[in-house]
Amino acid sequence: MKGVILAGGLGTRLYPLTYATNKHLLPVYDKPMIFYPINTLVQAGIKDVMVVTGGPHAGHFLRVLRNGKELGLNNLAYAVQEGERGIAAALSLAEEYVDGENVCVILGDNCTDADIHKDVVTFEEGARIFLKEVEDPQRFGVPAFNDEGKIIKLTEKPVSPDSNFAITGLYFYDKSVFDRIRKLKPSDRGELEVTDLNQSYLDDNKLGWAMLNGFWKDAGTYETLIEVGTYWWKKRLEEGSALGRERK
Ligand code: DAU
Repeated sequence: MKGVILAGGLGTRLYPLTYATNKHLLPVYDKPMIFYPINTLVQAGIKDVMVVTGGPHAGHFLRVLRNGKELGLNNLAYAVQEGERGIAAALSLAEEYVDGENVCVILGDNCTDADIHKDVVTFEEGARIFLKEVEDPQRFGVPAFNDEGKIIKLTEKPVSPDSNFAITGLYFYDKSVFDRIRKLKPSDRGELEVTDLNQSYLDDNKLGWAMLNGFWKDAGTYETLIEVGTYWWKKRLEEGSALGRERK
C-alpha cells in the first residue's frame, strides 16, 4: 500500500502563524506537524509516500523532509497543488505515483498515536474510514447510522450533526479512487470534497469503517495546535523521553 499525505492549502485559518511557512511545518511540541502523519505511516509499514503540498512555502518541505530516509521512508515523492481546490483534488495529483495500488491517505494536520498496522494488512478493496467520538462534530465530516449501526449517510460540517463522531483525516482507498474523483462535482465552497468521495463508496456499498483507537486531533486551529503539542509533551514526559526530564 502506498501512502499519500495531503499538505496543501494556504493555511489562512492560522494567520499570522502561516505567513512565514506552511501550516504542516509549524511546531507540534518537538517536531514539525507533518512528522506525526509520516510516523503513523512508517509505523504501519507504509514507506513509499507522496506529500502533496502547495501555497507560497511549498519549497520548505524539501528542506525539512529531504528524501525522507531519516524519517524511516524508503521513498518520498512530492507533488504541488495549485490553489485550494479541495482534499479530493489534492489526492488526484497522486494518481501516477499510486499506480493502481491501494492507498492510505492522511491529512497533514491530523496527528494520532493510533496503530493502524492491522488495518493496513487486512484492507483489500473499497474504502475504509476511521471514526473518533468528539464534542464538536460540526467541525468535521460526520456519519449517520441506522438502527443496526450501519452508516447510511456522510455530511461535511453539518449544522445539526447526525452523530457525535468525526470522520478523521485517515482514509484507505482501492484503485477505483481516481475514477471516482473524476466524477465528483465541486461543492458550494468550490472544492472537491473528500466526504463526497467517501459517499460515492458508500453509495456502492463499498465503505467500511473502524474506530480509531488512541489519541487523534487535527492541529489546524490555534487551540488544537496547542492541545496536540501538549498531548505529545505529556506523553513523552510519561515515557521519560521528554527533553525536560533528560535535563534534570
Ligand atoms: O480533520 C478531519 C477533517 O478534515 C474531516 O473530518 C473533514 O471531513 C475534512 O473535510 C477535513 O476538514 P477540514 O476543515 O479540517 O479540512 P481543511 O480544509 O483544514 O484541510 C485539511 C488538510 O487537507 C489540510 O491540512 C491540507 C489538506 N488540503 C486541504 C485542501 C482544502 C490540501 O492538501 N488541499 C486542499 O485544497
